[in-house]
Amino acid sequence: MVAKDQKTNHHLDPTEIGLRPGLEGVPVTQSAICDIDGVKGELRYRGYPIAELASHSSFLETTYLLIWGDLPSPQQLRDFEREVQMHRRVSFRVRDMMKCFPASGHPMDALQSSAASLGLFYSRRAIDDPQYVYDAVVRLIAKIPTMVAAFQLIRKGQDPIQPRDDLAYSANFLYMLTEREPDPLSARIFDKCLILHAEHSLNASTFSARVTASTLTDPYAVIASAVGTLAGPLHGGANEDVIKMLEDIGDPEQANSYLEKAIAKKQKIMGFGHREYKVKDPRASILQGLAEELFARFGKDEMYDVARTLEKQSERSLGKKGIYPNVDFYSGLVYRKLGIPRDLFTPVFAISRVAGWLAHWREQLGANRIFRPSQIYTGEKSRKWKQADDRLSPTSI
Ligand code: CMC
Repeated sequence: MVAKDQKTNHHLDPTEIGLRPGLEGVPVTQSAICDIDGVKGELRYRGYPIAELASHSSFLETTYLLIWGDLPSPQQLRDFEREVQMHRRVSFRVRDMMKCFPASGHPMDALQSSAASLGLFYSRRAIDDPQYVYDAVVRLIAKIPTMVAAFQLIRKGQDPIQPRDDLAYSANFLYMLTEREPDPLSARIFDKCLILHAEHSLNASTFSARVTASTLTDPYAVIASAVGTLAGPLHGGANEDVIKMLEDIGDPEQANSYLEKAIAKKQKIMGFGHREYKVKDPRASILQGLAEELFARFGKDEMYDVARTLEKQSERSLGKKGIYPNVDFYSGLVYRKLGIPRDLFTPVFAISRVAGWLAHWREQLGANRIFRPSQIYTGEKSRKWKQADDRLSPTSI
């Protein structure tokens, strides 16, 4: 496949363009949603600094901002909140389907399947119809938390509990998950976590969402493909692995020897490093502050000292390579204090990131061209067909 230079209309040979593993530094789209300065450690959604949004906004207001480009008026926000609240329930058919999932399955797999199933219930209309777009946004933002909480109860052998209309978005999710109304501090901190994870430019899952969107498929397929991509341990799945790693280290005294051994074996330290940031991820600093707020009220998580020591010790070795804590490093400690089980950390990330994925879905549709990159072929050029008896048996598969 030979690409075309958009300016000259000349065909370009992929070998001349050169291979960029992981597409590092290759712009593949224009976007007005999120801006990262990885040297200064700055992150803005639609021009607003992340720290300001985390201090003053709510997750639903931030979602509105990301998807429609501007902060809503008070009336627009009330309408959006009300619509989301009205669509929180999921069909009994989706719940019954989830009851057939193996209880031992990972909740991210359950979420990917149930998100994709929504496409069966809401028939595809013209995807450029603003009402269809609005309805799909509302449904996905409203139902994803309900599905995450439902699977948690279903796998424990219980029936899911219905959303409570008197509770705001984050409080309602924690209620459906833990079966008790959260205290206001926990609900507020959880809402801030959702704001912090809502969007982060062209990361792997958002790219996946845009690639899927570029085929003009339905938004439920877009979100399901993004959920599958987020699940990997190099992406959203890292928050789960961070807690495993901290527990393996077990004691701040052991942090340095763990670090040295891991570096010697060229193992990645989970929750460290980022393609975009060469300094500490600004979200990690805010999450660390939120963890401290929770610890001050509800008691410290002993793994926090391990985490802090690991961060400090890593400066000498990893810091000089520009590798610092990313968003996943402290988020697990916050979620754990909120009573969220470890294998739900990544689904919780997905609840939030669906806002960014939907913003990119809309943006992609606004100036769409199907993604179809090229490759540099390295296989055999031409081979002659052999009858089965003439083939050598492989020594290994
Ligand atoms: N621990 C130790 N060394 C690291 C780490 C780490 N966490 N991250 C990068 N490096 C080293 C890596 O070994 C390589 O060194 P060298 O040049 O000597 O071979 C160099 O830094 C570049 O690493 P890379 O893997 O080529 O960098 P990348 O931009 O392709 O990967 C990353 C970025 C986030 C996948 C990677 O840093 C990583 O695997 N981190 C651990 C997993 C993690 O925390 N993921 C969450 C990412 S942030 C949230 C999200 O996206 O969901």
